[in-house]
This record gives sequence, C-alpha cells and structure tokens, in this order.
Amino acid sequence: MTHHPVSLFQVLAPVNALSERLRSAPAAELAARIADRRARVGIIGLGYVGLPLARAFAETGFPVLGFDIDPVKVEALQSGSSYIGHIPSAAIRQMLAQRFEPTTHFERLAEADAILICVPTPLTDAREPDLTYVVNSVRAIARTLRPGQLIVLESTTYPGTTREVVVPILEQGPPARDLGLRAGVDVFVAFSPEREDPGNPDFAAPTIPKVVGGLDPVSRELAAALYGSVMVRVVPVSSPEVAEACKILENTYRAVNIALVNELKVLYDRMGIDVWEVIEAAKTKPFGFQAFYPGPGLGGHCIPIDPFYLTWVARKHGMSTRFIELAGEINTSMPQYVVSRLADALNDRGKPLKGSRIALLGVAYKKDVDDPRESPAFELLHLLRQKGALLSYNDPHIPRLPSMRSWPDLGSMNSQPLTADYLAAQDAVLIVTDHSAYDWPFIVDHSRLLIDTRNATRAVTAGRDKIVKA
Ligand SMILES: NC(=O)c1ccc[n+]([C@@H]2O[C@H](COP(=O)([O-])OP(=O)(O)OC[C@H]3O[C@@H](n4cnc5c(N)ncnc54)[C@H](O)[C@@H]3O)[C@@H](O)[C@H]2O)c1
Repeated sequence: MTHHPVSLFQVLAPVNALSERLRSAPAAELAARIADRRARVGIIGLGYVGLPLARAFAETGFPVLGFDIDPVKVEALQSGSSYIGHIPSAAIRQMLAQRFEPTTHFERLAEADAILICVPTPLTDAREPDLTYVVNSVRAIARTLRPGQLIVLESTTYPGTTREVVVPILEQGPPARDLGLRAGVDVFVAFSPEREDPGNPDFAAPTIPKVVGGLDPVSRELAAALYGSVMVRVVPVSSPEVAEACKILENTYRAVNIALVNELKVLYDRMGIDVWEVIEAAKTKPFGFQAFYPGPGLGGHCIPIDPFYLTWVARKHGMSTRFIELAGEINTSMPQYVVSRLADALNDRGKPLKGSRIALLGVAYKKDVDDPRESPAFELLHLLRQKGALLSYNDPHIPRLPSMRSWPDLGSMNSQPLTADYLAAQDAVLIVTDHSAYDWPFIVDHSRLLIDTRNATRAVTAGRDKIVKA
C-alpha cells in the first residue's frame, strides 16, 4: 500500500470552510472536533474495507475505535497482527501506537463522534439484499446514540437504504425517543460508498476520491469535512440516494462490461480471433474506450452481488434491470465455458475429463489477494468434480481452501507446492488467477497442457503449443 505523508492531504484537501449553519451546537462542536482532529472515529466492521479506513484515520492523527463482532479478529489486532494479506502486521502495530483501539464492546460506540459502518451486505439464498449486518450495527448505534454524533453508512447497498432503513432504527433507539433526538437535526447521517480496491498498490484508501451524500446539508458538510481530513478529494452529492446509486452504477458498469468481453471472447474464439489481442489494439484509442478483460467467471463480493441490490429495488418500482440480468447470465456461464474448453483440449489429446489430474492455479477471486470469497474457482472445482476429474490447487496466498456452505461437495483442500514434478504429474493445469508471484515460463515449461483464462502466459514464447486460451 502506498503511503503519503500527512502533509500531502493537508495541501490537497484542506478541511472545507464550514458554513454558517454549522455554528449552532451540536454541529459546531463536532465540526470543531473534526477540524482539530480530536473527533473520535468509530469504525464498525474491521474487514477488507474497515481496516484500511481505520488505518487512514489513525495515520492522520484521529483517535480510532474499531468495532467487530468477531473476537478472533479483534484479539489479533489488539496483539498487533494482521489477518489481511496486503496489510502488514507492522502497520497494525503502528496504528495501535497511533491511538487505534480495536474492541468488541459496542457500548463504547457512545464515545465515538463519528461512526462509519463497513459491514458486509451479501445476498440471501433467494438473491435478495441481506441487510442483517447493517441493521444489527445500526441497532447497536441506536442504543447509545447521543447528540452530535455523525453516522455514515459505507456498505454497498440499494438507493434508499440510508433514509428508509438506517434513519428509522436510529430514531427508534431509546436515547432518541427519550431525548427527542432527530436524524439530520441533533444527530447527523450520511452515505459514503467505499471504493477500496484490495491488493492494488496504486490506490490506498486516502488517494481515492470519496463521494458523500448527506441526509441534509449539515450532515453532508460534517461528513465531507471528516473525509476531507484524510482523503485527497471529497465529492459531495445532493442526497444519500445519489451516493448509494453512484456506487451501484460503478459496480454494474464493471459487471456489464466484463460480460460484454466475456461474450466476445466466446464468439471471437469460434472465429479464430484472439480477444486479448483485440482488446490491446482497441485500448490504443485515446477516447471513448475503456479496457475490460474476460475471465473464468466473476469473483469477489462486490461485482457478482451488488448489481442484484438494484435489481431487487427496481422490481419494487415495477421495472426489471435487463442489462444486469443479462450480464449476470453471461458471467455465470463462464466457468462452464472454461470447463468445455478444457474438456475439448484433453479430448484432442485422447483423454476424458474423468480420471484426469487437473491443478488449478490461483483460487483467490482476483490477483494478489488472499480472499477466496465468491471466487469462480469454487464453481470450476465443482463442475470438474462432477465430471470425475482428480483435483488439486496451488495458491501462494491461500494455503488452505476452507469448506464453503454453498459448495458442500468440495470439502477443504490444501495448496500444493508448485514444483516441476507436481506440474508434470498433471494432465492439465488451469490458470484461474494470475498472481504476480507465478513464474510463467517455469509453469509452461513443466506443464503438459495449460488452460489460460487470464492471458497470463502471453509473454512466454517457448511451449505455446501446450497453451489453450479459454
Ligand atoms: N472488499 C472490497 O473490495 C469492497 C470494496 C468496496 C465496497 N465494499 C463493501 O464494503 C462492505 C464491507 O465489505 P468487506 O469486504 O470489508 O467485508 P469483510 O467481510 O471483509 O468485513 C466485514 C467485517 O464486519 C464484521 N461484522 C459483521 N457484522 C458486524 C456487526 N454487526 N458489528 C461489527 N462488525 C461486524 C465482520 O466480522 C467482518 O470483520 C460491503 O458492503 C462491501 O460490499 C467492499
């Protein structure tokens, strides 16, 4: 992760001159605490999003209280060790020295001046929004709510969540009822979507512009002032709904464009055209084209999931989101396509899938991360196991592939050492994730057949007859 000296933020993003409206208490008090960094920042959910955010605030001089329901994670952090591959333990120890306090004691939410919610927003089995984590977090906040607190939801969700789900829970909390606290008047509420790109060293949290939509102008200004203290740029928008819709647009844009290149990959392959070469050529156009790349299927907990939050809310408005549904259909068919390419390549060599040894390289959902959630590797393993293949995998970032609730047939597996003998013993090697740690010439040299879903072997010249792009 790239680090910039605090002075850079000070130069690029001075705290906005706060308007006259903020002179009234308790907003003025909070604004003053933000301006001189006395404001205590509470972050709920210390995962891939919450932990880098906590780091950004701690590094900038804010005292940070980190809340998580997982005691194992909190204990690890308290003892100075990291559980996220791209965040070194040294960074956690530095955060602790910078007044970062991880805790499972949610009554301490009362101590926080600003509370940022970074908990998961998955889908239910029926592919509908599962806001349980958000609701539980907001209920915890509502129990100790006090005047002058700023609450910001960062979790990706459908437009309307902040106003229709978060605010009513806050207003029903005992302190709100007893003291007559009103959201947008006595306590401040905003939505600001997280744009973390885990494992990408070019974009540390503070360098990514932050969109902020407040329930009211005061909430927006307070949230913008808070983020402006640590982020290079704050982009205020007119409402939480615009900020929520903005995040969903960003992720849907990716899902749809990835589906487009995935469909073209299949078509161009039939026509004998290399889609990767086509994209490289197209991206020389200096305007009007942004490169997206095909792959073995969508992964991660954002792109395959978030667009369906919009689909769900669209149904309530009597509309269907046809682009999202079509993109989902194409993207989820990719593992099946990869398996058929693999089966054909084995068939050309006189081998059936059944009984063939197949090694998957890379089971993380994307390059250089240690996160297997929603990885297409699971679907690939499942499909190949159904066909009777003998499976194993290597991933330098994931030594053990945990058993997953949605894939009961897979059990748990351990990463195999990537030796010449291991590669040579495989009937086929399937590249799922192109981690930077892989030595491609070595892998090509020792494999008998390689199915490359990432164009990872593009620079290898020897042994190209063993490589099948899929
Ligand atoms: N990871 C990304 O790349 C990314 C990028 C942008 C947006 N997001 C969004 O950010 C949100 C969080 O994602 P993440 O990847 O950080 O998830 P994560 O699973 O890595 O972390 C979430 C953390 O929240 C904790 N948690 C769950 N319920 C809690 C509760 N009630 N109180 C306190 N802690 C609780 C979990 O124990 C976990 O540590 C999601 O809405 C996601 O869509 C993620």
